[in-house]
Amino acid sequence: MSELAILGGPKTRSQPYPEWPVWDERDIEAVTAVVRSGRWGGYPYPGPQTAEFARRFSELQGGSYAVPMASGTVTMEVACRATGIGWGDEVIIPAYTFQATAAAPMAAGAIPVIVDIDPQTYCIDPKAVEKAIAPKTKAIIVVHLGAEMADMDAIMEIAGRHDLVVIEDCAHAHGAKWRGKGAGTIGQFGSFSLQSSKTLTSGEGGVLLCRTSELAEKAASIIDCGRSHPGGGEEGEGEYSLGANYRMTEFQSALANVGIERFPEQASQREQMASYMDEALSEIPGVRLLKRDPRHTTRSFYRYIFAIDPEVFGVEHDALCTALDAEGVDCWTGYEAMHHYTLFQPAKSKLAVPAAFPQYFQFEKMHLPAAERACEHEAVWLDEAIFRAGRQGVDDAVAAIRKIQRNAKELAEAARKFREN
Ligand SMILES: Cc1ncc(COP(=O)(O)O)c(C=O)c1O
Repeated sequence: MSELAILGGPKTRSQPYPEWPVWDERDIEAVTAVVRSGRWGGYPYPGPQTAEFARRFSELQGGSYAVPMASGTVTMEVACRATGIGWGDEVIIPAYTFQATAAAPMAAGAIPVIVDIDPQTYCIDPKAVEKAIAPKTKAIIVVHLGAEMADMDAIMEIAGRHDLVVIEDCAHAHGAKWRGKGAGTIGQFGSFSLQSSKTLTSGEGGVLLCRTSELAEKAASIIDCGRSHPGGGEEGEGEYSLGANYRMTEFQSALANVGIERFPEQASQREQMASYMDEALSEIPGVRLLKRDPRHTTRSFYRYIFAIDPEVFGVEHDALCTALDAEGVDCWTGYEAMHHYTLFQPAKSKLAVPAAFPQYFQFEKMHLPAAERACEHEAVWLDEAIFRAGRQGVDDAVAAIRKIQRNAKELAEAARKFREN
């Protein structure tokens, strides 16, 4: 009989990994208190729970003005609009990310210019950014992917030289630090998602860190139907601007306020278990860990991503992931490269930006080799739940990957036959 669960052998892990989000009576009490208070929505902005969350979140990341809002997509649209980025401006983004990183500048009227990633970190390649800068370039959106951070020293240096706005997409990077500075506090803006899969969640929601009170003031006004929010705080005297309702509700903020209390302990457990995982995984033939940059002083783990060299490992990443799932370890090959992303085909829609600027969306002409290799052959994404299951959780995941590598020949043969039929 085969050793591999996908070919009828025994499963490495039969017990499910812990669920997310984690909750207890505190969450129920917090939501109940909001129901009883009668103050449910986000208006007047910010409500007491939302103001408290803004304070706590900016403390967690170590500075900047926090403006909670509806999602980690509108945060980036608002960042663009708050700095006057709009119709026909170019915003450089990495090819390896969720579609929101491109959809957000488009919602502000700007054109996403997709560039390649650094194969060592899977984050935006500063050399590719430099090459893509053109007269209409106004901003760079970096994505701190999985558990990595983009090279913020290089990015800030380039942005400074070309007078560009830097927006850090920190949807995966709650609690992460670069040279001791919180992710999202280095560029002009840090955009965080609080959607339910994220390591700090309120079900849905987002929070935008703004480096100055002037930027926070503009952001708060845009998300509160244009009302004036001096310094990014409560509504005050001042002109109306053009905005819309992107407010976070008090229910969401109440949940975020409980989640943020649990966050430091969860983050430290993930970090400890990830270091343990690094050691064990690096001994498996064909496994390549992503770069551990010493300037990335605190790692945070939305997903643990590693690479394989398919020739040495023995199979491609999709076969490994399918086999790993069968072993009881949730696994994903990750996003598609943005220019190959089946969901991201704006030129096929009636969206204003691709309709007006089709020359930027000729994906068949784009060649971004590092992103293509990562997305089509190498990347393996593991769930952070593995770390919440302690050493046993990590041991099981590593044992399953080792088992698959040991039996890669048999798996490759089975995959070949499957494709032929
Ligand atoms: C890299 C990245 N950016 C942005 C977002 C968007 O966040 P939201 O779903 O809160 O709009 C996500 C969400 O998955 C993401 O992974």
